Amino acid sequence: MSLIVTNIGELLTNDPDHGIRHDAAVVVDGDRIAWVGPATQAPAADLRLDADGAAVLPGFVDSHAHLVFAGDRAAEFSARMAGQPYTGGGIRTTVAATRSASDDELRGNARRLVSEALRQGTTTIEIKSGYGLSVPDEVRSLRVAAELSTETTFLGAHVVPAEYADRPDDYVDLVQGEMLDAAAPYAKWVDVFCERGAFDGDQARAILTAGAKRGLGLRLHANQLGPGPGVRLAVELGAASADHCTHLDDADVDALAGSDTVATLLPGAEFSTRSPYPDARRLLDAGATVALATDCNPGSSYTSSMPFCIALAVREMGLTPTEAVHAATAGGAAALRRTDLGRISPGARADLIVLDAPSHLHLAYRPGVPLIRHVLQHGAPR
Ligand code: NIG
Ligand code: FE
Repeated sequence: MSLIVTNIGELLTNDPDHGIRHDAAVVVDGDRIAWVGPATQAPAADLRLDADGAAVLPGFVDSHAHLVFAGDRAAEFSARMAGQPYTGGGIRTTVAATRSASDDELRGNARRLVSEALRQGTTTIEIKSGYGLSVPDEVRSLRVAAELSTETTFLGAHVVPAEYADRPDDYVDLVQGEMLDAAAPYAKWVDVFCERGAFDGDQARAILTAGAKRGLGLRLHANQLGPGPGVRLAVELGAASADHCTHLDDADVDALAGSDTVATLLPGAEFSTRSPYPDARRLLDAGATVALATDCNPGSSYTSSMPFCIALAVREMGLTPTEAVHAATAGGAAALRRTDLGRISPGARADLIVLDAPSHLHLAYRPGVPLIRHVLQHGAPR
């Protein structure tokens, strides 16, 4: 089946750069974009989607989310808003709830969050494990993740679980040995939370190197709560993405700018932990590739909304609305090393959204307003 999107007020193709076009039409064939050009020259198609003068852009690519868990931590959030600091220690609360949940509970919760994200325009979402932290609980977390996305990430190194508190090196051995072996069939990526209180640079290097040997791509939680070795380690190891990037020195910024490691910024985490935001402007000006993602998780960022992250990036992180939308689409695709996503051009996957607004600028200009009118995912209306 082919489908033509007509009456587009503004088309943001990301091809090349922002690629903003007016009077354009888009033809989709099966799950791919088949044609983009002036509406007057459009070929015939079986079906028609009338954009009614609204903006059309690529679906959001959320390249960082933790969706496999049970329970919530609303009370922890409330305590933070009353002045408690965020340390990451609450991860163990979610680990306990996740371990005692059934597979169906984990599946139902993750599925709910994926469809919540889809309704907000997210057509690709990366899903991490990391709340199981035992061999069987990490494996079942990744099984659930793999039912919902091809972009699955093994995060056995999220924190050291309580039962290993007095022998963390044994846990690192478990993660890079038996746990990695069991997880690898369900994972495309491996990630480590490299932070004081989680895993140090040497531990992160050992786990990432073992993951690379098993054929997994690399990503890293780096420099979220304070300065540290994470960002430079990610660049040195050729990771696809260094995520958070909140506390960077000049050498970190230079390292990112001179690499193809994407700086993935997660402003939902700074919002929900009441922390200073990362400096997206500094990274873009230095020449780094910037992605925006939700970090959706029950502790530090319980939002599935890419439009919310776009609005924060504009208001708090120095991006223009166009740059923020680019980071949420093409940036996310780069962070997942996917050339078929985040753009509307022939050959790309037919993932696009029609806004309830005349321009993509409205995503930041009208924060908190549900502006997603239609979503096409793999060419199918959702
Ligand atoms: O990306 N930083 C580590 N992991 C998550 C937080 C997880 C949690 O608090 O449950 C993050 O922010
Ligand atoms: Fe995260």
